Order: sequence, then structure tokens, then C-alpha cells
Amino acid sequence: MTGFYRPVRWMLLLLPLALVSATPTVRVVTPPPPRPLGILAAMKPELEPIAEHVTDKSFLTYLGIPFTTGRLEGRPVVLAVTGVGKVNAAVATTLLLDHFQPAQVIFTGIAGGLNNELHIGDVVVASKVAQHDLGAFGPAGFQPSPVRNPLTGKPNPPFFECDPKLIEAAHRAAGRRALTPMEGSFRSPRVVDGVIVTGDVFVASAEKRNSLRTGFEADAVEMEGAAVGQVCYQQQVPFLVLRGISDSADERASSDVKSAMRTAVQNSVALTMSLVAELNEPTPASQPATAR
Ligand code: ADE
Repeated sequence: MTGFYRPVRWMLLLLPLALVSATPTVRVVTPPPPRPLGILAAMKPELEPIAEHVTDKSFLTYLGIPFTTGRLEGRPVVLAVTGVGKVNAAVATTLLLDHFQPAQVIFTGIAGGLNNELHIGDVVVASKVAQHDLGAFGPAGFQPSPVRNPLTGKPNPPFFECDPKLIEAAHRAAGRRALTPMEGSFRSPRVVDGVIVTGDVFVASAEKRNSLRTGFEADAVEMEGAAVGQVCYQQQVPFLVLRGISDSADERASSDVKSAMRTAVQNSVALTMSLVAELNEPTPASQPATAR
């Protein structure tokens, strides 16, 4: 009798185990946290008014460059001041991409206007950016030419295209917020698309201004945008450069920057903040269809 019952007893003992292993396991998959939006500017006054609105702030320093993380308009962001010039901009952008893996990068600040249609206080949203001082100097003078992407060995394009989705969002953002007119002016500043060129020089010469305008069909000139563009292009991260016009890159540029910096920054900041808010809105295509 006992010999007959022993297997049954074992079966009864093992039954709960069998039931547990047969039950399908429910794995709770938590989605990865959303990647932040990177926001960079060359100088503290260009970024500070944005940083003031960041909540849940933390501070991290990499190679001596301070990064501020937190939330802006409800979205995770990481902010840094790069310093002026292409090398500083490339260093900070590389650190940003490596340590924070941002989904997109926005570079904001001021620029010199090259297009006569632009007024001080207007904001240029770059369609594409290029380095105006990268190339070869031969008997025929300066010839721009891009370098190779060290990751692929292929030549980089002459212009780095800004992300079309960010450009579209900037257009929608422009409709959300009025810009500040220059002191003593009743003209409402405009947000316009344009080509931005970048070089390691502050341009304060009508002659150089004209050559950048004709050589690159450029609308504005600054000192960081295309360096950020090159790093982002090579690392396949969408980016956008937007700039408030502070001067006309002519002989009056230095004094114009002093008097117009406040309004130019106010307007680049206003568009950047409005763009961040816009990026948090569901786009018309991603909204659920409504029943008719
Ligand atoms: N940023 C603002 N104005 C500029 C200029 N004229 N040249 C280069 N960078 C600038």
C-alpha cells in the first residue's frame, strides 16, 4: 500500500511547483525615461534667462563644463554654456551627446545679420549651417571645402541641414509669442528662416559681410552654430540653430551688439522657450482621430 501511495504523495508535493512554473510570467516593462532636449548657448547671458525657468535642477560638471539638468515646460532638458567659438562649441556638444544622449539639440543666442531685409531684433531660424572659414587658401584666394566625417570616411556636406521637424516646430512656436521691438521702434520683430554661417571671427566689416552674403548666400553670421551642427550631423542627432540679430556685421557691429544685445537675447530666448513648449504639445498628426 505504502509503495503505491508514495508516487502520489510526491505528485501532490510537486503540484504547486508545477502550477507556478506553468503560470505565464508577467514582466512589468518600464519604458526608458525620455531622452532630454539639449539647449546650448555660447555665453551666459544668452542662456541664463532660460535656465531661470528650469525646475528640479541638478548640476553635473564634465571636463570643467557645468551642465544643468531639470525640466522646462514639463520636458527633461540639459543646458550648458559652451563658450565662444567653434572649438568650445564642439567640445561642449560632444560632452552633451556623450553624457546625456539628448534626443535633439537647440543652439540659441545672437548673430550678425547679413541679409539687408533683416533688422536688429529679428530671429533667424537656420535652415542649414556652414563653417565659412573652413577650406583651402590658394593662389586664387580662399576656397571653402568641408572635411571628412572621421566615423564614415565620407566627405561632410558643405552645409549641415537643421532638423525639419524642429524647424516646423519653431514656425509654430513663432505664432505663440510676440517678440520685443527694439527700444524706440514700433516695428514688430520677425522670425525668418535663413542660412547661418559660422567662423572663428567676429565680423565687423562691410567687405567681409558682403563676401559672406554672396559666397554662401548667408543671412546671418555667428561663431558656434556649424560646429554644433557638425558634431550633431556626425553623431546623427537632430539639431537646430536659432539666433536673435544683434548687429549687421559691419563696422558698427561692436557698438550695435552692446546696445542691441538685450533685445536680441530676449527674442532668441522667447522663441526658444516657445519652441520647447511647442515640442511638448502633441503634433496634429499624433493626435487621436476624433469620431465624426
Ligand atoms: N555674433 C553676433 N554678432 C556677430 C558678428 N558680427 N560676427 C560674428 N558673430 C557674431
